[in-house]
Amino acid sequence: MIVTIDGTSASGKSTTAKEVARKLGFVYIDTGAMYRAVALYCIENRINIHDRKAVADVSRKINIRFIRQLTDWLDENRIFLNGREVTNLIRTEEVGSVASTVATYKDVRSNLVEKQRKMGRKENVICEGRDIGTVVFEDADVKIYMDADIIERARRRQRELERTADLQSVIESLKKRDEQDKMRVESPLKIPEDAVIIDTTHLSIEEEVEKVIEVIREHDRQSSSFIND
Ligand code: DC
Repeated sequence: MIVTIDGTSASGKSTTAKEVARKLGFVYIDTGAMYRAVALYCIENRINIHDRKAVADVSRKINIRFIRQLTDWLDENRIFLNGREVTNLIRTEEVGSVASTVATYKDVRSNLVEKQRKMGRKENVICEGRDIGTVVFEDADVKIYMDADIIERARRRQRELERTADLQSVIESLKKRDEQDKMRVESPLKIPEDAVIIDTTHLSIEEEVEKVIEVIREHDRQSSSFIND
């Protein structure tokens, strides 16, 4: 089974997808982390991010791996770039903003989409990003689209950044990111035709997870396929 979650930055996609994957025993694919890995590589290796060909080469050549670390007290999706762990390094605003720029390049997208499709080939997966239900897994079994009020999203992002940025500048940076993600020519962020829309503005993470699981179960009841409890 393939479940896709698309939506705006800081709408709750990642946290929800990760928890749903844990509860249902699905593999979780964080595609934003892949664009972030390309961005980090370019920053660290002083690749000109406006040189589309050079960035496309990076996206083709780098090795990106997700490893799920599961212990009694921790369930973490760790990301490795050419064998080096970059789980925390990719989570800065600078990397997010460069990721949004390199994500506008057609060749970068096709290289990463190919990797994503390979990852989704075998198992039950929940895959999260901007173009997952519209491009990467167009035939997905369940499609979700998440969004929330910009002020609430900025508060969440601010918490993630441990309040190192003021709310107004986070709002501005989210607006810029939304615009770049929605207006680009290649696979812009949009609501997949057959998606269930979840507005997370007033929802807790637990409620978001509940809603997504309910949508999956409903699909399951209708198609009478099998999901582990
Ligand atoms: O979800 P995120 O903030 O980690 O994603 C970082 C950037 O990557 C985001 O601004 C847009 C881009 N992205 C994309 O274009 N397509 C995806 N499937 C996932 C992310």
